[in-house]
Amino acid sequence: MYFDLNEEQLMIQQAARDFAITECLSGVIERDEKMIFPKEQILKLADLGFMGIMVNQKYGGAGMDTLSYVIAMEEISKVDASTSVCMSVNNSLVCWGLERFGSEEQKVKYLTPLAQGKKDGELYIGAFLLSEPEAGSDATSQSTIAEDKGDYYLLNGTKNWITNGSTASVYVVMAQTDRSKGSRGINALIVEKNSPGVVVGAKENKMGIRGSDTHSIQFNDVKVPKENRIGADGFGFKYAMQVLSGGRIGIAAQALGIAAGALERSINYAKERKAFGQEIIHHQAIQFKLADMATRIEAARLLVYKSALDKDADRDYTTSSAMAKVFASETAMWAATEAVQIHGGYGYVKEYHVERLMRDAKITQIYEGTSEVQRIVIGRSLSK
Ligand code: CAA
Repeated sequence: MYFDLNEEQLMIQQAARDFAITECLSGVIERDEKMIFPKEQILKLADLGFMGIMVNQKYGGAGMDTLSYVIAMEEISKVDASTSVCMSVNNSLVCWGLERFGSEEQKVKYLTPLAQGKKDGELYIGAFLLSEPEAGSDATSQSTIAEDKGDYYLLNGTKNWITNGSTASVYVVMAQTDRSKGSRGINALIVEKNSPGVVVGAKENKMGIRGSDTHSIQFNDVKVPKENRIGADGFGFKYAMQVLSGGRIGIAAQALGIAAGALERSINYAKERKAFGQEIIHHQAIQFKLADMATRIEAARLLVYKSALDKDADRDYTTSSAMAKVFASETAMWAATEAVQIHGGYGYVKEYHVERLMRDAKITQIYEGTSEVQRIVIGRSLSK
């Protein structure tokens, strides 16, 4: 497998790096503290083409490959994981699924503005609604009901932990139409947020990625036209699983970025901070930590790139994305904790950023499938 980045990918990497430094860094601590959604940043990402980076240009996207997407995700996540999760959800969980499985009408009406991240100059992004108060890892246990009423579905239920919950214009909602069919009775429906009966719950006060916009969403007798169903009747669960396989590559790239950001900050700090008469980078205790961090991060990067290449080559990537996500997210949590340790007391205060990276890292082991779910996916592939 060949991992050298081509000229276009190197350009994306540089653009994402510049964007993170010039547009995200200065306000990132305040947005985290006050839970401010990075709207300005997302609008600028939209102008760069990063909100629909893998979508065909015919539908408003940038037409790049998955490797370009993960490279951009890594760079932005080094600085601002709240901005990168919004980008990831729009790209992987919303745009990719619509492009792969949506009808031509759905692609024109919804995918095209979503991939541009804007409609009539205003923010236009999507959200993916699978989790429920009683259905997280056990995603087939959907209580949200989409009752078939002939030419429309009547949607009732509650979804939880929805990224882009109040800022999204479009929701892709998984709901049970025929309980007797289990996971084969679930449909994926496109619901416009401003539909009558949609109620956005309070914003979650989270440990990390506090700038990202997380809400519960309620549906009270929401009428969803039949033409807004994605794919055939009963395809919704398989749709969600396939979309999540790609989503996990994006979150693995986010985790990789958090880990790499923690390493960069640790190296810089260790080169400046003096103890016992020399910069602490010359102490073996610190060098060993940095060496282990660099090694695990490089291994995570190889897994993330491999999974992106699997997807681009149309090979099965369900297992490789689960491996990339579990390894990268556990690396992020560990590396960010080491970064705090290297920084000592300074690591425990906000100005040095690493405490935020540590809080942000935790969610990468939970959303888009916990580490335990990734191990289920990997384990099942071994037993086949
Ligand atoms: N691709 C295609 N089909 C798949 C699939 C995949 N990757 N995985 C499962 N399926 C199919 C199965 O083949 C099966 O189909 P048949 O009935 O035709 O045989 C059907 O789906 C049901 O599959 P399982 O029997 O394997 O289902 P399960 O109940 O055992 O659950 C699971 C499997 C892997 C644990 C799954 O429930 C899961 O991934 N859970 C985690 C959910 C998750 O990741 N949630 C994240 C929420 S979104 C989020 O976090 C976004 C955000 O805001 C950032």
